[in-house]
Amino acid sequence: RARETDGAVTHEATATAPVNIAVIKYWGKRNEALMLPTNSSLSLTLDQDQLQSRTSVRVRAERGDAVRLWLNGREEKLSARMLNLVAAMRRLRREKEEEAKGAEELASRVLHVASVNNFPTAAGLASSASGLACLAVALDAALGLDLPRAQLSALARLGSGSACRSLFGGFVAWDAGVNNATGADSVARQVAPETHWPAMCALVLVASADQKEMPSSRGMQATVDTSPLLLHRAAHVVPERMRAIERAIRDTDFDAFAELTMRDSNQFHAVCLDTFPPIFYLNSVSQAVIALVTRYNELKHAKDSSRRFTAAYTFDAGPNAVLYLLKEDVPEVLRLVNAFFPHPSFANDNDRDEYYGQAKKFLDDSLSSADTAALEKELVEAGIRKFPQSGGIKRIIYSDIGDGPRILGRGPDSRNVSLLNDDGLPK
Ligand code: DP6
Repeated sequence: RARETDGAVTHEATATAPVNIAVIKYWGKRNEALMLPTNSSLSLTLDQDQLQSRTSVRVRAERGDAVRLWLNGREEKLSARMLNLVAAMRRLRREKEEEAKGAEELASRVLHVASVNNFPTAAGLASSASGLACLAVALDAALGLDLPRAQLSALARLGSGSACRSLFGGFVAWDAGVNNATGADSVARQVAPETHWPAMCALVLVASADQKEMPSSRGMQATVDTSPLLLHRAAHVVPERMRAIERAIRDTDFDAFAELTMRDSNQFHAVCLDTFPPIFYLNSVSQAVIALVTRYNELKHAKDSSRRFTAAYTFDAGPNAVLYLLKEDVPEVLRLVNAFFPHPSFANDNDRDEYYGQAKKFLDDSLSSADTAALEKELVEAGIRKFPQSGGIKRIIYSDIGDGPRILGRGPDSRNVSLLNDDGLPK
């Protein structure tokens, strides 16, 4: 029986890549074809043991330029940007083959790609950054390119701008670059590894959303086309913020980090409102989170003047709040979230586990409810009200800051970890 088993296992790789959440936001492209941003940005890489994309790329025995893709088990058509990314990597392989005579001819073989996310789409987290970064890494290994991470970052960028930051762990800057001809200098670089600030972590508050959001690519182009505020932001605000946030990270200065993060999220949503017609990504849940975090920070500061901020919120192109905070403050913040955002009703323990995920371990923390009761009362006195409906927050995701993409296996070693079976179809 003609099976492609041998060839398949030789030229295959399986990789995982992490999600990243920006604190200085990327919003706007100066060149859509090359995916060059109007401003630099900076993100933190979340732990891929908790949230990840996983991708297997197999170079099949048969010749042809076809690429088949299965996302979470369902076959999908590749987007124009994915095709760009694949074409660019095949070109690099072809150059390599032309240079090294006798190199196996892989550039014009059919590719099979299977990719899954370990977080549900319902989690409301964009999977494009981790997914496209993972595709670049797995393709690199399957085609035997072994490109430097910075070059892979530029290639991932062709798939989705924010994907270029998922090539690194820890604290990652994406420099906008100045080369408008090739875009080769528009790449991400690691500012500090995940081990640099071990106390830092993230809590994602997944907000229920009724209306369909405007996809980021379309939204940001509308902003570029119509918002005068965006020009001001890119020219006069972001450059100084990039310097300041790198300093804050280097010095593990949470107050500076938190203020910059919140201000930049606010300004990103301000340029969305400045877009004509306007774009709204924040909803009433998001606004209630902002009010709670703001008052909470003020009350904590009144008790301990050495700290100005305890938690920092940031929002992407949707209503979910991401809170960056120090691990020691998670139990208290979680209790306040519970107090002010009644959770959906749980039919059983499973529902409860799904709602809290990894955050559950902080609930059982020694902190007693009496400790937060006083704080709750003060927040109520300061005007913070319980969110009127239960289920305003759909689930909570806790994450550490994590490392960059991992190759789980390449060549024959990919077989056991592969998402593809011997016939080249999803397992
Ligand atoms: C709000 O990277 O999804 O999350 O480059 O068009 O694929 P494309 O857009 P995308 O935009 C992300 C925007 C953001 C901010 C950020 O991640 O910096």
